[in-house]
Amino acid sequence: MESVNSSTAVLEIRGAGSRYPALVGSGLVEQVGKHVHKYLPRKTCAIISDDKVAPLFARRVEESLAAAGFRHVLITIPVGEKSKTLQQAGAICDQMIAAGLDRQSFVIGLGGGVIGDISGFVAAIYHRGIPHVQTPTTLLAMVDSSIGGKTGVNTRDGKNLIGAVHHPSLVIDDLDVLKTLPPREFNQGFAEIIKHAVIADAKMFRTLQRWEAADAAALQQLIKRNIEIKSKIVAKDERDQTGERAVLNFGHTVGHAIERAGDFNQFLHGEALSLGIIAACTISIKKARLPPDQRDAVVDLLQRLKLPTRLPPKFPGGKILNALKFDKKFQGGKIRFVVTPRIGVAHLTQDVILEDIREAVAQL
Ligand SMILES: NC(=O)c1ccc[n+]([C@@H]2O[C@H](COP(=O)([O-])OP(=O)(O)OC[C@H]3O[C@@H](n4cnc5c(N)ncnc54)[C@H](O)[C@@H]3O)[C@@H](O)[C@H]2O)c1
Ligand SMILES: [Zn+2]
Repeated sequence: MESVNSSTAVLEIRGAGSRYPALVGSGLVEQVGKHVHKYLPRKTCAIISDDKVAPLFARRVEESLAAAGFRHVLITIPVGEKSKTLQQAGAICDQMIAAGLDRQSFVIGLGGGVIGDISGFVAAIYHRGIPHVQTPTTLLAMVDSSIGGKTGVNTRDGKNLIGAVHHPSLVIDDLDVLKTLPPREFNQGFAEIIKHAVIADAKMFRTLQRWEAADAAALQQLIKRNIEIKSKIVAKDERDQTGERAVLNFGHTVGHAIERAGDFNQFLHGEALSLGIIAACTISIKKARLPPDQRDAVVDLLQRLKLPTRLPPKFPGGKILNALKFDKKFQGGKIRFVVTPRIGVAHLTQDVILEDIREAVAQL
Protein backbone atom coordinates (compact mmCIF):
# COMPACT_ATOMS: atom_id res chain seq x y z
CA MET A 1 0.00 0.00 0.00
CA GLU A 2 1.35 3.44 -0.93
CA SER A 3 0.04 6.84 0.07
CA VAL A 4 -0.96 9.72 -2.23
CA ASN A 5 -0.95 12.20 0.61
CA SER A 6 -1.03 11.69 4.35
CA SER A 7 -4.72 10.78 4.35
CA THR A 8 -5.42 8.89 1.11
CA ALA A 9 -4.84 5.14 1.06
CA VAL A 10 -4.11 3.42 -2.25
CA LEU A 11 -4.88 -0.29 -2.51
CA GLU A 12 -3.70 -2.36 -5.46
CA ILE A 13 -6.44 -4.81 -6.45
CA ARG A 14 -5.05 -7.80 -8.34
CA GLY A 15 -6.72 -10.76 -9.98
CA ALA A 16 -6.10 -13.00 -12.98
CA GLY A 17 -7.98 -10.66 -15.31
CA SER A 18 -7.69 -7.37 -13.48
CA ARG A 19 -5.36 -4.94 -11.80
CA TYR A 20 -6.53 -1.56 -10.59
CA PRO A 21 -6.03 0.90 -7.76
CA ALA A 22 -8.69 1.78 -5.19
CA LEU A 23 -8.21 5.12 -3.43
CA VAL A 24 -9.82 5.68 -0.04
CA GLY A 25 -9.65 9.10 1.59
CA SER A 26 -11.19 12.51 2.12
CA GLY A 27 -11.73 15.30 -0.40
CA LEU A 28 -11.31 12.97 -3.38
CA VAL A 29 -14.39 14.15 -5.32
CA GLU A 30 -12.55 17.42 -5.95
CA GLN A 31 -9.53 15.45 -7.18
CA VAL A 32 -11.19 13.00 -9.58
CA GLY A 33 -9.63 14.76 -12.60
CA LYS A 34 -6.15 14.62 -11.11
CA HIS A 35 -6.34 10.93 -10.24
CA VAL A 36 -7.96 9.88 -13.49
CA HIS A 37 -5.26 11.82 -15.35
CA LYS A 38 -2.64 9.79 -13.49
CA TYR A 39 -4.15 6.37 -14.18
CA LEU A 40 -5.99 6.77 -17.52
CA PRO A 41 -4.20 8.45 -20.41
CA ARG A 42 -7.44 9.43 -22.20
CA LYS A 43 -9.20 12.70 -22.96
CA THR A 44 -13.00 12.28 -23.10
CA CYS A 45 -15.55 10.70 -20.78
CA ALA A 46 -19.15 10.38 -19.66
CA ILE A 47 -20.07 10.90 -16.03
CA ILE A 48 -23.12 8.76 -15.28
CA SER A 49 -25.10 9.63 -12.15
CA ASP A 50 -28.63 9.69 -10.74
CA ASP A 51 -30.81 12.73 -10.21
CA LYS A 52 -30.31 12.63 -6.44
CA VAL A 53 -26.53 12.23 -6.38
CA ALA A 54 -25.70 14.50 -9.34
CA PRO A 55 -26.93 17.74 -7.68
CA LEU A 56 -24.77 16.91 -4.65
CA PHE A 57 -21.42 16.07 -6.25
CA ALA A 58 -21.40 16.26 -10.05
CA ARG A 59 -20.35 19.90 -10.30
CA ARG A 60 -17.21 19.27 -8.25
CA VAL A 61 -16.32 16.24 -10.38
CA GLU A 62 -16.95 18.23 -13.56
CA GLU A 63 -14.75 21.10 -12.39
CA SER A 64 -11.92 18.77 -11.46
CA LEU A 65 -12.14 17.01 -14.85
CA ALA A 66 -12.11 20.33 -16.71
CA ALA A 67 -9.13 21.51 -14.67
CA ALA A 68 -7.25 18.32 -15.61
CA GLY A 69 -7.98 18.86 -19.31
CA PHE A 70 -10.78 16.33 -19.89
CA ARG A 71 -13.81 16.90 -22.10
CA HIS A 72 -16.88 15.31 -20.55
CA VAL A 73 -20.63 14.88 -20.78
CA LEU A 74 -22.81 14.47 -17.68
CA ILE A 75 -25.63 11.92 -18.09
CA THR A 76 -28.19 11.81 -15.29
CA ILE A 77 -30.79 9.07 -14.93
CA PRO A 78 -33.76 8.83 -12.52
CA VAL A 79 -32.78 7.59 -9.06
CA GLY A 80 -33.44 4.00 -8.03
CA GLU A 81 -33.41 0.35 -9.00
CA LYS A 82 -36.12 0.90 -11.64
CA SER A 83 -33.51 2.68 -13.77
CA LYS A 84 -31.28 -0.40 -13.94
CA THR A 85 -32.64 -1.59 -17.27
CA LEU A 86 -31.38 -2.51 -20.72
CA GLN A 87 -33.50 0.30 -22.12
CA GLN A 88 -31.84 2.86 -19.84
CA ALA A 89 -28.39 1.47 -20.73
CA GLY A 90 -29.29 1.92 -24.42
CA ALA A 91 -30.45 5.49 -23.83
CA ILE A 92 -27.15 6.27 -22.06
CA CYS A 93 -25.19 4.81 -25.01
CA ASP A 94 -27.22 6.98 -27.41
CA GLN A 95 -26.33 10.09 -25.42
CA MET A 96 -22.65 9.08 -25.41
CA ILE A 97 -22.71 8.63 -29.18
CA ALA A 98 -24.42 12.00 -29.60
CA ALA A 99 -21.69 13.58 -27.44
CA GLY A 100 -19.04 12.17 -29.77
CA LEU A 101 -17.52 9.70 -27.32
CA ASP A 102 -15.58 6.86 -28.94
CA ARG A 103 -13.33 3.88 -28.19
CA GLN A 104 -10.78 6.20 -26.62
CA SER A 105 -13.30 7.56 -24.10
CA PHE A 106 -14.13 6.22 -20.64
CA VAL A 107 -17.02 6.18 -18.19
CA ILE A 108 -17.18 7.51 -14.63
CA GLY A 109 -19.98 6.10 -12.48
CA LEU A 110 -20.90 8.58 -9.74
CA GLY A 111 -23.46 7.13 -7.35
CA GLY A 112 -24.50 4.07 -5.38
CA GLY A 113 -24.63 0.46 -6.52
CA VAL A 114 -27.35 1.11 -9.10
CA ILE A 115 -25.15 3.63 -10.89
CA GLY A 116 -22.06 1.44 -10.43
CA ASP A 117 -23.82 -1.53 -12.04
CA ILE A 118 -25.39 0.28 -15.00
CA SER A 119 -22.42 2.56 -15.72
CA GLY A 120 -20.12 -0.47 -15.59
CA PHE A 121 -22.40 -2.33 -17.95
CA VAL A 122 -22.42 0.61 -20.38
CA ALA A 123 -18.60 0.73 -20.17
CA ALA A 124 -18.50 -3.02 -20.89
CA ILE A 125 -20.57 -2.76 -24.08
CA TYR A 126 -19.78 0.71 -25.46
CA HIS A 127 -17.52 0.16 -28.49
CA ARG A 128 -17.10 -3.40 -27.12
CA GLY A 129 -15.63 -2.12 -23.89
CA ILE A 130 -14.06 1.10 -22.62
CA PRO A 131 -12.53 1.78 -19.17
CA HIS A 132 -14.76 2.32 -16.16
CA VAL A 133 -14.00 4.50 -13.15
CA GLN A 134 -16.10 3.78 -10.07
CA THR A 135 -16.81 6.71 -7.76
CA PRO A 136 -19.15 5.05 -5.27
CA THR A 137 -21.19 7.33 -3.03
CA THR A 138 -22.85 4.81 -0.71
CA LEU A 139 -21.15 2.71 1.97
CA LEU A 140 -22.60 -0.42 0.35
CA ALA A 141 -21.11 0.48 -3.01
CA MET A 142 -17.70 1.26 -1.46
CA VAL A 143 -17.37 -2.00 0.47
CA ASP A 144 -19.14 -4.26 -1.99
CA SER A 145 -20.56 -3.43 -5.42
CA SER A 146 -17.71 -1.26 -6.78
CA ILE A 147 -15.24 -4.12 -6.28
CA GLY A 148 -15.25 -7.36 -8.23
CA GLY A 149 -16.23 -6.32 -11.74
CA LYS A 150 -19.83 -7.56 -11.78
CA THR A 151 -21.93 -5.13 -13.82
CA GLY A 152 -25.42 -5.44 -15.20
CA VAL A 153 -29.08 -4.55 -15.41
CA ASN A 154 -32.37 -6.11 -14.36
CA THR A 155 -35.05 -7.58 -16.59
CA ARG A 156 -38.78 -8.03 -16.09
CA ASP A 157 -38.09 -11.50 -14.65
CA GLY A 158 -35.32 -10.79 -12.22
CA LYS A 159 -32.40 -8.80 -10.93
CA ASN A 160 -29.02 -8.74 -12.64
CA LEU A 161 -29.99 -11.30 -15.28
CA ILE A 162 -28.10 -9.43 -18.00
CA GLY A 163 -24.57 -8.29 -17.43
CA ALA A 164 -20.86 -8.54 -17.96
CA VAL A 165 -17.75 -8.98 -15.87
CA HIS A 166 -15.94 -5.71 -16.50
CA HIS A 167 -13.47 -4.63 -13.84
CA PRO A 168 -13.03 -0.94 -13.15
CA SER A 169 -9.75 0.75 -14.06
CA LEU A 170 -9.87 2.90 -10.95
CA VAL A 171 -12.04 3.15 -7.82
CA ILE A 172 -12.26 6.43 -5.91
CA ASP A 173 -13.87 6.30 -2.45
CA ASP A 174 -14.34 9.76 -0.95
CA LEU A 175 -15.33 9.37 2.72
CA ASP A 176 -16.81 12.88 2.76
CA VAL A 177 -19.65 11.97 0.39
CA LEU A 178 -21.04 9.61 3.02
CA LYS A 179 -22.01 12.59 5.18
CA THR A 180 -25.14 13.24 3.08
CA LEU A 181 -26.18 9.58 2.96
CA PRO A 182 -29.50 8.99 4.80
CA PRO A 183 -28.92 6.94 8.01
CA ARG A 184 -30.84 3.89 6.76
CA GLU A 185 -28.72 3.82 3.60
CA PHE A 186 -25.54 4.18 5.68
CA ASN A 187 -26.54 1.43 8.11
CA GLN A 188 -27.40 -1.06 5.37
CA GLY A 189 -23.77 -0.96 4.25
CA PHE A 190 -22.87 -2.53 7.59
CA ALA A 191 -24.80 -5.67 6.69
CA GLU A 192 -22.28 -6.43 3.93
CA ILE A 193 -19.42 -5.49 6.28
CA ILE A 194 -20.69 -7.88 8.96
CA LYS A 195 -21.11 -10.53 6.26
CA HIS A 196 -17.45 -10.07 5.32
CA ALA A 197 -16.47 -10.38 8.99
CA VAL A 198 -18.46 -13.59 9.48
CA ILE A 199 -17.12 -15.28 6.35
CA ALA A 200 -13.52 -14.09 6.46
CA ASP A 201 -12.32 -11.96 9.35
CA ALA A 202 -12.88 -12.75 13.03
CA LYS A 203 -10.61 -9.84 14.01
CA MET A 204 -12.77 -7.34 12.10
CA PHE A 205 -15.80 -8.88 13.82
CA ARG A 206 -14.25 -8.00 17.22
CA THR A 207 -13.42 -4.48 15.99
CA LEU A 208 -17.05 -4.02 14.99
CA GLN A 209 -18.21 -5.19 18.42
CA ARG A 210 -16.44 -2.09 19.80
CA TRP A 211 -17.58 0.23 16.96
CA GLU A 212 -18.56 3.76 18.02
CA ALA A 213 -19.98 6.55 15.82
CA ALA A 214 -17.26 6.57 13.24
CA ASP A 215 -14.38 8.94 13.03
CA ALA A 216 -12.96 9.32 9.53
CA ALA A 217 -9.77 7.34 10.25
CA ALA A 218 -11.68 4.34 11.60
CA LEU A 219 -14.09 4.42 8.68
CA GLN A 220 -11.22 4.63 6.18
CA GLN A 221 -9.55 1.63 7.81
CA LEU A 222 -12.83 -0.33 7.76
CA ILE A 223 -13.54 0.41 4.08
CA LYS A 224 -9.97 -0.53 3.13
CA ARG A 225 -10.24 -3.83 4.98
CA ASN A 226 -13.54 -4.68 3.30
CA ILE A 227 -12.13 -3.92 -0.15
CA GLU A 228 -9.24 -6.27 0.66
CA ILE A 229 -11.55 -9.05 1.82
CA LYS A 230 -13.87 -8.85 -1.18
CA SER A 231 -11.10 -8.47 -3.76
CA LYS A 232 -9.13 -11.42 -2.36
CA ILE A 233 -12.17 -13.69 -2.53
CA VAL A 234 -13.00 -12.46 -6.05
CA ALA A 235 -9.39 -12.97 -7.22
CA LYS A 236 -9.66 -16.70 -6.44
CA ASP A 237 -12.70 -17.09 -8.68
CA GLU A 238 -13.24 -14.01 -10.85
CA ARG A 239 -15.92 -15.50 -13.09
CA ASP A 240 -17.85 -17.15 -10.25
CA GLN A 241 -17.15 -20.67 -11.49
CA THR A 242 -15.29 -22.64 -8.82
CA GLY A 243 -17.58 -21.87 -5.88
CA GLU A 244 -14.97 -19.82 -4.01
CA ARG A 245 -16.67 -16.52 -4.88
CA ALA A 246 -19.97 -18.01 -3.76
CA VAL A 247 -19.09 -17.50 -0.06
CA LEU A 248 -19.88 -13.82 -0.71
CA ASN A 249 -23.49 -14.93 -1.03
CA PHE A 250 -23.59 -15.77 2.70
CA GLY A 251 -26.98 -14.63 4.04
CA HIS A 252 -28.22 -13.77 0.56
CA THR A 253 -30.41 -16.79 -0.19
CA VAL A 254 -32.87 -15.88 2.55
CA GLY A 255 -32.01 -12.17 2.27
CA HIS A 256 -33.05 -12.00 -1.37
CA ALA A 257 -36.23 -13.96 -0.64
CA ILE A 258 -37.14 -11.49 2.13
CA GLU A 259 -36.44 -8.56 -0.22
CA ARG A 260 -38.74 -10.10 -2.80
CA ALA A 261 -41.41 -11.02 -0.23
CA GLY A 262 -41.41 -7.35 0.85
CA ASP A 263 -42.01 -6.40 -2.81
CA PHE A 264 -38.59 -4.71 -2.91
CA ASN A 265 -39.93 -1.72 -1.01
CA GLN A 266 -40.30 -2.88 2.58
CA PHE A 267 -36.62 -3.58 3.20
CA LEU A 268 -33.41 -2.16 1.82
CA HIS A 269 -31.06 -4.85 0.51
CA GLY A 270 -28.81 -4.63 3.59
CA GLU A 271 -31.79 -4.83 5.95
CA ALA A 272 -33.06 -8.00 4.29
CA LEU A 273 -29.50 -9.32 4.29
CA SER A 274 -29.29 -8.75 8.06
CA LEU A 275 -32.20 -11.16 8.53
CA GLY A 276 -30.71 -13.52 5.95
CA ILE A 277 -27.42 -13.60 7.87
CA ILE A 278 -29.28 -14.60 11.03
CA ALA A 279 -31.12 -17.38 9.18
CA ALA A 280 -27.81 -18.58 7.70
CA CYS A 281 -26.30 -18.68 11.20
CA THR A 282 -29.28 -20.68 12.53
CA ILE A 283 -28.80 -23.17 9.70
CA SER A 284 -25.06 -23.22 10.37
CA ILE A 285 -25.67 -24.36 13.97
CA LYS A 286 -27.46 -27.43 12.59
CA LYS A 287 -25.38 -28.12 9.48
CA ALA A 288 -21.91 -26.79 10.29
CA ARG A 289 -21.75 -26.95 14.11
CA LEU A 290 -21.60 -23.21 14.58
CA PRO A 291 -21.57 -22.69 18.37
CA PRO A 292 -24.95 -21.12 19.30
CA ASP A 293 -23.26 -18.33 21.28
CA GLN A 294 -21.56 -17.21 18.04
CA ARG A 295 -24.95 -16.87 16.36
CA ASP A 296 -26.03 -14.77 19.36
CA ALA A 297 -22.93 -12.59 18.93
CA VAL A 298 -23.82 -12.01 15.25
CA VAL A 299 -27.38 -11.02 16.20
CA ASP A 300 -26.05 -8.61 18.87
CA LEU A 301 -23.68 -7.03 16.38
CA LEU A 302 -26.36 -6.53 13.72
CA GLN A 303 -28.58 -4.94 16.35
CA ARG A 304 -25.75 -2.72 17.59
CA LEU A 305 -25.27 -1.45 14.06
CA LYS A 306 -28.99 -0.64 13.79
CA LEU A 307 -29.98 -3.44 11.45
CA PRO A 308 -33.21 -5.44 11.82
CA THR A 309 -32.94 -8.76 13.64
CA ARG A 310 -36.62 -9.74 13.65
CA LEU A 311 -39.23 -9.83 10.93
CA PRO A 312 -42.04 -7.31 11.44
CA PRO A 313 -45.06 -8.84 13.23
CA LYS A 314 -47.47 -10.58 10.83
CA PHE A 315 -44.92 -10.60 8.01
CA PRO A 316 -45.98 -13.56 5.83
CA GLY A 317 -43.34 -16.30 6.23
CA GLY A 318 -44.97 -18.26 3.39
CA LYS A 319 -44.21 -15.46 0.98
CA ILE A 320 -40.51 -15.77 1.82
CA LEU A 321 -40.53 -19.49 1.03
CA ASN A 322 -42.36 -18.87 -2.25
CA ALA A 323 -39.81 -16.23 -3.17
CA LEU A 324 -37.00 -18.78 -2.67
CA LYS A 325 -38.15 -20.53 -5.81
CA PHE A 326 -36.80 -17.58 -7.79
CA ASP A 327 -33.34 -18.36 -6.52
CA LYS A 328 -31.05 -19.50 -9.33
CA LYS A 329 -29.11 -21.64 -6.86
CA PHE A 330 -32.17 -23.68 -5.94
CA GLN A 331 -32.19 -26.86 -7.98
CA GLY A 332 -34.09 -30.10 -7.44
CA GLY A 333 -35.12 -29.23 -3.88
CA LYS A 334 -31.48 -28.83 -2.84
CA ILE A 335 -29.69 -25.57 -2.60
CA ARG A 336 -26.08 -24.50 -2.72
CA PHE A 337 -26.01 -22.80 0.64
CA VAL A 338 -23.17 -20.98 2.40
CA VAL A 339 -22.65 -21.91 6.06
CA THR A 340 -20.19 -20.83 8.73
CA PRO A 341 -18.67 -23.32 11.19
CA ARG A 342 -17.21 -20.40 13.21
CA ILE A 343 -16.98 -16.63 12.82
CA GLY A 344 -14.29 -15.84 10.23
CA VAL A 345 -14.79 -18.96 8.09
CA ALA A 346 -17.43 -20.01 5.52
CA HIS A 347 -17.96 -22.69 2.91
CA LEU A 348 -20.56 -23.95 0.48
CA THR A 349 -22.62 -27.02 1.28
CA GLN A 350 -25.16 -29.13 -0.60
CA ASP A 351 -26.67 -30.41 2.67
CA VAL A 352 -29.29 -27.75 3.24
CA ILE A 353 -32.88 -28.51 2.31
CA LEU A 354 -35.98 -26.32 2.14
CA GLU A 355 -37.13 -27.58 5.54
CA ASP A 356 -33.94 -26.22 7.18
CA ILE A 357 -34.66 -22.82 5.67
CA ARG A 358 -38.31 -22.98 6.73
CA GLU A 359 -37.24 -23.67 10.33
CA ALA A 360 -34.72 -20.84 10.31
CA VAL A 361 -37.19 -18.34 8.81
CA ALA A 362 -39.79 -19.35 11.41
CA GLN A 363 -37.38 -18.22 14.13
CA LEU A 364 -36.92 -14.73 12.67
N1 LIG B 1 -22.08 -5.46 -8.75
C1 LIG B 1 -22.09 -6.02 -7.56
O1 LIG B 1 -21.23 -6.83 -7.22
C2 LIG B 1 -23.16 -5.62 -6.59
C3 LIG B 1 -23.07 -6.02 -5.24
C4 LIG B 1 -24.05 -5.58 -4.35
C5 LIG B 1 -25.10 -4.77 -4.81
N2 LIG B 1 -25.17 -4.43 -6.13
C6 LIG B 1 -26.26 -3.58 -6.62
O2 LIG B 1 -26.20 -2.34 -5.95
C7 LIG B 1 -27.48 -1.74 -5.93
C8 LIG B 1 -27.75 -1.19 -4.55
O3 LIG B 1 -26.78 -0.21 -4.28
P1 LIG B 1 -27.07 1.02 -3.31
O4 LIG B 1 -27.64 0.53 -2.04
O5 LIG B 1 -25.81 1.81 -3.23
O6 LIG B 1 -28.29 1.75 -4.05
P2 LIG B 1 -28.52 3.10 -4.88
O7 LIG B 1 -27.50 3.29 -5.91
O8 LIG B 1 -29.93 3.09 -5.29
O9 LIG B 1 -28.30 4.23 -3.77
C9 LIG B 1 -29.20 4.30 -2.69
C10 LIG B 1 -29.83 5.69 -2.54
O10 LIG B 1 -28.90 6.58 -1.94
C11 LIG B 1 -28.79 7.78 -2.73
N3 LIG B 1 -27.42 8.23 -2.56
C12 LIG B 1 -26.32 7.64 -3.04
N4 LIG B 1 -25.24 8.25 -2.59
C13 LIG B 1 -25.65 9.28 -1.82
C14 LIG B 1 -24.98 10.26 -1.04
N5 LIG B 1 -23.66 10.28 -0.93
N6 LIG B 1 -25.73 11.17 -0.37
C15 LIG B 1 -27.08 11.11 -0.43
N7 LIG B 1 -27.77 10.19 -1.12
C16 LIG B 1 -27.05 9.28 -1.80
C17 LIG B 1 -29.15 7.34 -4.12
O11 LIG B 1 -29.53 8.42 -4.90
C18 LIG B 1 -30.27 6.35 -3.83
O12 LIG B 1 -31.45 7.06 -3.56
C19 LIG B 1 -28.45 -2.83 -6.37
O13 LIG B 1 -28.86 -2.56 -7.70
C20 LIG B 1 -27.61 -4.11 -6.33
O14 LIG B 1 -28.03 -5.07 -7.29
C21 LIG B 1 -24.23 -4.84 -7.02
ZN1 LIG C 1 -25.52 -8.01 -0.95
